[in-house]
Amino acid sequence: MQQTEIQRANQSYRLGITITEHLLLCEDECPAATGQFTRLLSELIISAKLISREVNKAGLADLLGATGNVNVQGENVRKLDEFANQALIHRMERSGLICAMASEENADIIKIPDNMPKGNYILAFDPLDGSSNVDANASIGTIFSIHRKIEQEECSSLNNFLRYGYEQVAAGYFLYGSSTMLVYTAGKGVHGFTLDPSVGEFLLSHRSITMPERGTIYSVNESYTEFWDDRTRNVVNYFKSSNNKRGKPYTARYIGAMVADFHRNLLYGGIYMYPADRQDPHKPHGKLRLLCEAAPLAFIAEQAGGAATDGSQRILDIKATELHERVPLFIGCKEDVAKAMVILRGA
Ligand code: AHG
Ligand code: MN
Ligand code: MN
Repeated sequence: MQQTEIQRANQSYRLGITITEHLLLCEDECPAATGQFTRLLSELIISAKLISREVNKAGLADLLGATGNVNVQGENVRKLDEFANQALIHRMERSGLICAMASEENADIIKIPDNMPKGNYILAFDPLDGSSNVDANASIGTIFSIHRKIEQEECSSLNNFLRYGYEQVAAGYFLYGSSTMLVYTAGKGVHGFTLDPSVGEFLLSHRSITMPERGTIYSVNESYTEFWDDRTRNVVNYFKSSNNKRGKPYTARYIGAMVADFHRNLLYGGIYMYPADRQDPHKPHGKLRLLCEAAPLAFIAEQAGGAATDGSQRILDIKATELHERVPLFIGCKEDVAKAMVILRGA
């Protein structure tokens, strides 16, 4: 008897295929999944388990609220932002796998100390995405993007980071929601793992995730409508109208943590948008960071059969020009993103 996707997922989960077993099984198929890559993901997983533990007890352990500091993005740093950032830096700089790192929370490239061994990977991350949700116990996440070091460049060279999104070796996120999940791609599909706290392991729960061609959800912060240009307004109006291809309005869902909004749309089908706010001097290119937010999620979206654009070009075709570059983002089901692009071009 043929099994459905859900039956296969349930069976894998009960039998307990761990992320490490999955990576080892994939090593033949995924060129990126070398032993080094498996170790790199394992280090990220330990960092995420530490972050997940702190997130889960945040209300009990004086981990809620702000630190009083403002980061390079001009945003208030919360205690959990700082913990997540330090956990990742601490583990990754000792791993011997990383050449240099960039974090949303650090103005400059994070160099590996001289006395630590270096590897060949370049890591960019958003330690805690959606952290304004923390105090309300809503979902948040960690996003990561992995490139290989450019052979002829020094580790600390900015050129290692100013790359096209399509050059990523792997990308993924940890979602700290009603359960903690890892979703990642190494260029051979998208796989999801759920942390089973009773065994302390991420177990395969979502094999080969694919997005529907067209979704039913639109996700955008509509309070900015007055700051958008007419074409952007037309895009949002299209998804709200019964006069669209679906024949009825899409459902509005917006958590305010892109990683959680993206994850829901990845599974249910939909489009997430963070357009440029042309009249807001702080957000002429939107809010989201190319290297640690837009590019990794774009890689996942495409690998799941979806798409991602800044309105005029594919996100993965953008070469970063600065470490904390921001881009407008329209990401989700292929047909929905294509429609948004057509409207944004004024066609
Ligand atoms: P971060 O917490 O890493 O700064 O990112 C927050 C981002 C993103 O996750 C979210 O979708 C968006 O900011 C929400 O911004 P608005 O409050 O402007 O909608
Ligand atoms: Mn973020
Ligand atoms: Mn963040």
